[in-house]
Amino acid sequence: MVKVTVCGAAGGIGQPLSLLLKLNQNVDELALFDIVNANGVAADLSHICSPAKVTGHQPANKEDKLAITSALTNSDLVIIPAGVPRKPGMTRADLFNINASIIRDLIANVGKTCPNAAILIISNPVNATVPIAAEVLKKLGVFNPKKLFGVTTLDSVRAETFLGELINEPPKSLKGKISVIGGHSGDTIVPLINVNSTISAKSSKITPAQYKEFVHRVQFGGDEVVKAKNGAGSATLSMAYAGYRFAESVLDSVAGGQTNTSVVPETSYVYLPGLPNGEELSKKSLNGATYFSVPVILEKGEIKSFINPFDSLTITENEKQLVSVALNGLDKSIAQGTNFVKGSK
Ligand code: NAI
Repeated sequence: MVKVTVCGAAGGIGQPLSLLLKLNQNVDELALFDIVNANGVAADLSHICSPAKVTGHQPANKEDKLAITSALTNSDLVIIPAGVPRKPGMTRADLFNINASIIRDLIANVGKTCPNAAILIISNPVNATVPIAAEVLKKLGVFNPKKLFGVTTLDSVRAETFLGELINEPPKSLKGKISVIGGHSGDTIVPLINVNSTISAKSSKITPAQYKEFVHRVQFGGDEVVKAKNGAGSATLSMAYAGYRFAESVLDSVAGGQTNTSVVPETSYVYLPGLPNGEELSKKSLNGATYFSVPVILEKGEIKSFINPFDSLTITENEKQLVSVALNGLDKSIAQGTNFVKGSK
């Protein structure tokens, strides 16, 4: 029996993400939690003739803890897109004040109710919300770094799409030939084009100006959506697709025991010191950064290992420069997230 819980299920991301999860044949129960409209979304999705049983969980008032507890009880995978999205002119960091406490409180419930679940954090700023989650779980004594994932898949999805347009290749064939490492915000996002892969001939023809524009578009592609939506939020549909793509990898690894080796690993923002060889990567190549996005290999719903981009991928001097810029931004966000929990009761 596989139970998946979505927290923030009635939102712009939560609804289409829950729809995609409802279609996954490996899901037996889909629990939808939100402070508004969770029951409505659950009733709607429950009419779809796929196996997952859908349940809605909506607190009657601020004191009601039953809804979140019932949503999380026996959950194997918790996905969190709860919180506020950006409006034009805002950076992801501007969301910190509201989303930090939402994540802190939701994760405290996860730690108490389903401490063995894999946790996927979508809520921004991911660079800081993942450290918040880790600190809360550490305080509760249930932190498993192999099961805490910051969802950065949208950056990979964008990189595949934009590079595909540039070199005239189907984006689907680019998965794994481009990896996006670092964090999930502006210049902390670092796309790496694998020059040893089959796309090297085509990608080597990109001019320096085109490359610069490509990197900028991967780093700031979210702004295109925020601007086009003109106050109605940020990426929701592409994010639901991306969040589902990552969740599907986790679910496949739960169902199959081990991800099929032909499946290309997804990238995720993770706590490196808690992973095999993670401390070494952090110290040797990342100036001691503790959180970083790397391609992860999954087994039974947790990280079995990761691909060290500095050992396995050919990183150009240009890309190394991007990594060093990313590390500056990451440092601040990681400290902000960590200190937020250390300063909380
Ligand atoms: P939204 O405002 O449409 O939906 C958020 C939902 O969270 C709402 O239904 C709201 O009622 C719910 N919510 C608020 N507080 C809650 C709580 N304490 N418990 C449970 N639910 C709660 O926002 P949208 O567009 O779905 O975005 C959600 C988050 O995802 C934002 O922080 C946004 O910045 C982030 N995001 C992350 C991306 C990524 O690549 N990781 C990409 C795009 C957005």
